[in-house]
Amino acid sequence: MKNDRVNFGSKLGVILASAGSAVGLGNIWRFPYEAGQHGGAAFILIYLVCVFVLGMPIMISEFLIGRRSRANTAGAYKVLAPHSPWRWVGFMGVLAGFLILSYYSVVAGWTLEYILEAGVNGFAHKSATDFKSAFIAFSQNPVRPLVWLIGFLLMTHYVIVKGVKKGIERFSKVMMPLLFILILILVFCSLSLPGSNKGVEFLLHPDFSKVNSEVFLGAMGQAFFSLSLGMGCLCTYASYFSKDTNLSRTAFSVGVIDTFIAILAGLIIFPAAFSVGISPDAGPSLIFITLPNVFQQAFIGAPVLSYIFSLMFYILLALAALTSTISMHEVVTAFIHEEFDISRTAAARWVTGGCIVLGIFCSLSLGILQHIKLFGLGFFDLFDFVTAKIMLPLGGMFISLFTGWYLDRKLVEDEVTNGGTLKVPFLKLYIFILKYIAPIAIALIFINELGLLS
Ligand code: PFF
Repeated sequence: MKNDRVNFGSKLGVILASAGSAVGLGNIWRFPYEAGQHGGAAFILIYLVCVFVLGMPIMISEFLIGRRSRANTAGAYKVLAPHSPWRWVGFMGVLAGFLILSYYSVVAGWTLEYILEAGVNGFAHKSATDFKSAFIAFSQNPVRPLVWLIGFLLMTHYVIVKGVKKGIERFSKVMMPLLFILILILVFCSLSLPGSNKGVEFLLHPDFSKVNSEVFLGAMGQAFFSLSLGMGCLCTYASYFSKDTNLSRTAFSVGVIDTFIAILAGLIIFPAAFSVGISPDAGPSLIFITLPNVFQQAFIGAPVLSYIFSLMFYILLALAALTSTISMHEVVTAFIHEEFDISRTAAARWVTGGCIVLGIFCSLSLGILQHIKLFGLGFFDLFDFVTAKIMLPLGGMFISLFTGWYLDRKLVEDEVTNGGTLKVPFLKLYIFILKYIAPIAIALIFINELGLLS
C-alpha cells in the first residue's frame, strides 16, 4: 500500500476543505426539497437532532479512523482491524461514493446550464410558469444535460489529478466565504418578496401531525448526505490531516457551517416559493424553478443587479457542488490508487469514466428512459434513495460500532485528545453515543421505516 501522503497546509485549509465537501447541492438543492416534501419545520427539527446527536460523533469517528490509519477508507479498516470483515464497511463507502457521484453530477451539470442561461440574460422578463416549463424541457432533453454532466465530471477529474493541496485546499479557501456572503444577500432578497412570510412560517412552525417514519428516515438520510458522512469521505480527508488537527473542534465547525448554510438556503427558497405560489413539495426541481424568480422579482427596478446576482449565484453553486464532487471522487480514486496499485491519474480516469456512464443513465431516467423502473423508481431516484437513505446511515451505524466497540478505548481517546494534549469536554458522552445511542437510533429508524414498529 502506498503511503506517500501529503497533508493539508493549514488549520483553516482543513476546515474549509472538509466544509467544502459537506456544503454543496445537499444544502442548497436537496435540503429544501426534502424539507418541503416532509412538511417543513418538524422535519428540520428532527434533522437538527440527527446532525448534532448522530452526525457529530460519527464525524469525529471518521476523522480519527482516517488520521490514525492514513489510508483510503477501505485500507483504513485493514490497518486498524487487519483480516477482519470491517473492511466491507470501507468497500460499501467506496461504492456509495461512486453511486452518489454519478447522480450528483447530473444536478451539478444543471447548474452549468443555469450559469449559461444567467450569463446570456435568459431569465429576464420570464414568469414562474416559464421557469417551470423551461426546467422540464431542459431536464428531459436527451442531449443537453449529458453534455453538462460530462463537462462537470471532467472538471472534477482535473482538480483530482492536480492533487490534494494545490487543488482542493486552495480552491475551498476562496470559494466558501464568497458563497456565504452571496447566500446572505439572497436571504434578504427573498424575505423582501411579497407574501414571503408564509414561507418563513413553513420553516419555523412545526406541524408534528405530519411526522411519520418517512420523515425520520428522510431527516436522518439528509443529515448523513449533507455532512458527507457514512461513506468514508471525511475519513479519506482526515488521512491528510496533520497530527495537531483538533478533530472534535473541526467536526463541530463543519457541522455548524453546514447546518447554517442549509437553513439559510431554506430561508431563500421557501419565502420565494410561497411568494410566487410554487408548492414547497415540488421535489428536485424546486430550486431551479424558484430561484431564477427570486432574482427577477427582488430587483424589479434594477435589472443589472438581477443579472449580476443570478450569474454569481449559479457560479458559486457550481463551485460548491465541485468541492463536493471532488471529495467523492477522491474517496474512490484514493481507494483504486492505493488498493490496486495503479497510478493516481489512471485510477481517476476509471472513476470519471464509470461515473459518466452511470450518470448518463441517471440523467436519461428523467426523460426518455422514464418508463424504466426498478422497485418503482427510475435510476436517478433509485440511486438517491439507496445511497442517502440506506447506505450512508448503514455506514454511519457500522462506523459508530467500530469506534465504540471494536477500537481500543485508549486509541480513540488518544486520537481525539491528540495524545492527551487537548481537553475534550464531551469525550465520555461522545463514546456513549457511539456505543449505544447512534447504532440503536439508526436501527430503530430503519425498522420503523420497514413498518415493523407499528
Ligand atoms: N455533502 C455533500 C452535499 O451536501 O452536497 C454531498 C456529499 C459529498 C455526500 C460527499 C457524500 C459525500 F461523501
